Amino acid sequence: MPLKNAIDLTGRRILLTGAAGGIGAATARACAALGAAKLVLADNGPMDDLCDELRDQGVDISPHQCDVSRRQDNADLVAAAGDIDAAVACAGICPLEEDWADDPEWDQVFHRVMDVNLLGPIHLVRELLPRMAARGGGQIVLIGSIGGRMGGTSPIVQPHYIASKGGVHALIWWLAQRAAPQGVLVNGIAPGPIATTMTATTPYPKDRYPLGRIGEPEEIAWPAAFLCSPAASYFSGSILDVNGGLFVG
Ligand SMILES: NC(=O)c1ccc[n+]([C@@H]2O[C@H](COP(=O)([O-])OP(=O)(O)OC[C@H]3O[C@@H](n4cnc5c(N)ncnc54)[C@H](O)[C@@H]3O)[C@@H](O)[C@H]2O)c1
Repeated sequence: MPLKNAIDLTGRRILLTGAAGGIGAATARACAALGAAKLVLADNGPMDDLCDELRDQGVDISPHQCDVSRRQDNADLVAAAGDIDAAVACAGICPLEEDWADDPEWDQVFHRVMDVNLLGPIHLVRELLPRMAARGGGQIVLIGSIGGRMGGTSPIVQPHYIASKGGVHALIWWLAQRAAPQGVLVNGIAPGPIATTMTATTPYPKDRYPLGRIGEPEEIAWPAAFLCSPAASYFSGSILDVNGGLFVG
C-alpha cells in the first residue's frame, strides 16, 4: 500500500498570531498551500492584503485585531475562532534601540517584551488547551529563537528579548508535559536570523553564517506547518533548531 503524505493540512482549522509579520504570513501561506480549510489570523497590525490573497485561494479566513499581551484579547480571539485543530504563536517584538545598562526607561521596555513574547503565548494556550482537550487533541507551536538557545547572534539584541525567548522554550517544555496526556502536542521552533521586518535594521555579515546567508520566512513556515500536521504526531516538547547550522545543540 502506498505511503500517504502526512504533511497534509486538508480540512484543518489553524490559528496564527503575528499573522501580518514575515514568519506569520509565510506560515499562513504554507498552511493554505497544504490544504488548511480555515485560518484564524490575529495581529495588531493590518493584514487585509494577506486575507484577500488567501481568500482568493478558497481558504476561509477569519481576521482578528488583537494585542496578544492582553488576556481578554486572547479569550475573545479563541472564543470567536470556534473549533481549532492547530495554532502557531508568531507574534513577537524585539526592540533594539534602548540601552539596558543606562536607559532609565529600559525596565518598562523589558516588561512590554515579556508581556508580548512570553505572557502572550501563556494567555493563548490557557484559552486553547481546554478547548482542544475537550475535542480530543490539537497541536500548538510556539516560536522561540536561537537567542534563547545561545544568547543571540547580534550584539545589538537586548537581554529582554533573549530572556523572553529562553522563557518561551522553558514554557514549551512545561506545557508539553501537561498537555500531552490531554492529547495536545506543544512544540516550538527556535529560528536563527530570518529576513523579516524584525531584522531589517540588524547587520548580519554573511561570513559569520555557515550557509553564507540568513534565513527566509518560508524556511520557518514549512517546519511550523509540519508541526501542525499529522506527520508530527509523535512530537511533544520538541524545539526545532532551524538556523542554517549557526547553532547545533
Ligand atoms: N526574524 C527573526 O530573525 C527571528 C528569529 C528568531 C525568532 N523570531 C520570532 O519569530 C516570530 C515572528 O517574527 P518575525 O520575524 O516574523 O517578525 P515581524 O516583525 O515580521 O512579525 C511579528 C508580528 O507580530 C505582531 N505583533 C507584535 N506585537 C503584537 C501584539 N502585542 N499583539 C499582536 N500582534 C503583535 C506584529 O504586528 C507583526 O506582524 C517572533 O516571535 C520573533 O521573535 C524571529
